[in-house]
Amino acid sequence: MVAQVIDGKAFAAKVRAQVADQVAKLKEENGITPGLAVVLVGEDPASQVYVRSKGKMTVEVGMNSYEHKLDADTSEEDLLALIEKLNNDPAVNGILVQLPLPKHLNEDLVINSIDPAKDVDGFHISNVGLLGTGQKSMVPCTPLGCLMMLRDHHGSLSGMDAVVIGRSNIVGKPMAQLLLGDSCTVTIAHSRTKDLPDVVRRADIVVAAVGRPEMVPGDWIKEGATVIDVGINRIERDGKNKLVGDVDYASAAERAGAITPVPGGVGPMTIACLLANTLTAACRANGLPEPEGLTA
Ligand code: GUN
Repeated sequence: MVAQVIDGKAFAAKVRAQVADQVAKLKEENGITPGLAVVLVGEDPASQVYVRSKGKMTVEVGMNSYEHKLDADTSEEDLLALIEKLNNDPAVNGILVQLPLPKHLNEDLVINSIDPAKDVDGFHISNVGLLGTGQKSMVPCTPLGCLMMLRDHHGSLSGMDAVVIGRSNIVGKPMAQLLLGDSCTVTIAHSRTKDLPDVVRRADIVVAAVGRPEMVPGDWIKEGATVIDVGINRIERDGKNKLVGDVDYASAAERAGAITPVPGGVGPMTIACLLANTLTAACRANGLPEPEGLTA
């Protein structure tokens, strides 16, 4: 079988267009412009690139973007004071504190000081608990993007066997909760899993989120399975820098029914879902119906 390629770049553009339509409607009918505040502490180059890209796309869909760039030696007290100010600012519907934070700052404390209703990353302990108990929450952006692509490809996921490789708080665990919410039979695999190839071979859906270049070879993939590759790994091959996923794309594409490429698969969906979450937060804050097709 030769896999259908799931075009995340095109899908993300479609999601952003849907968000832009809804934002225009919110402005026209309710006089509301959603706002997203992004807080960056320090000068990590990769984080600077992400933050710039987030700001640009926020403005492109018609929302207000507020960027707060703080020095690397900012005290916890000052950072918490800024978050408190954003929590109380009605123009701000979403707050994202870019991770990783410099070592002297307690990441859990900082994330849990964000108003859960504005926690568009879905990392606050309240949102984690709400998702785990099947209640309305803010859902982490990358797993939400994966779920949207799976729903788009399959329609219903009910009864499918899914394996999530990786147990991170940002991707693996919330991904498993979302798949369970859509009635999949879910296995969470990780570095200590016994006979990982055998576990993966049973899955109709494989979500790889471990951050190890090409660790899943094609012969682990069940014929016709759907493969969602969350990994973005920089490697050097033939003297050139290259981005590869956690799945060996070439061999997996020969067996899968559908597969996301790297780059151009899951990656572009993360910011699209951040914008979708900001819109959802703005609708909830104003007692309006949630945007259709943009939530879990
Ligand atoms: N750093 C890399 N990805 C992310 C993300 O999705 N959210 C936050 N807050 N920081 C990140």
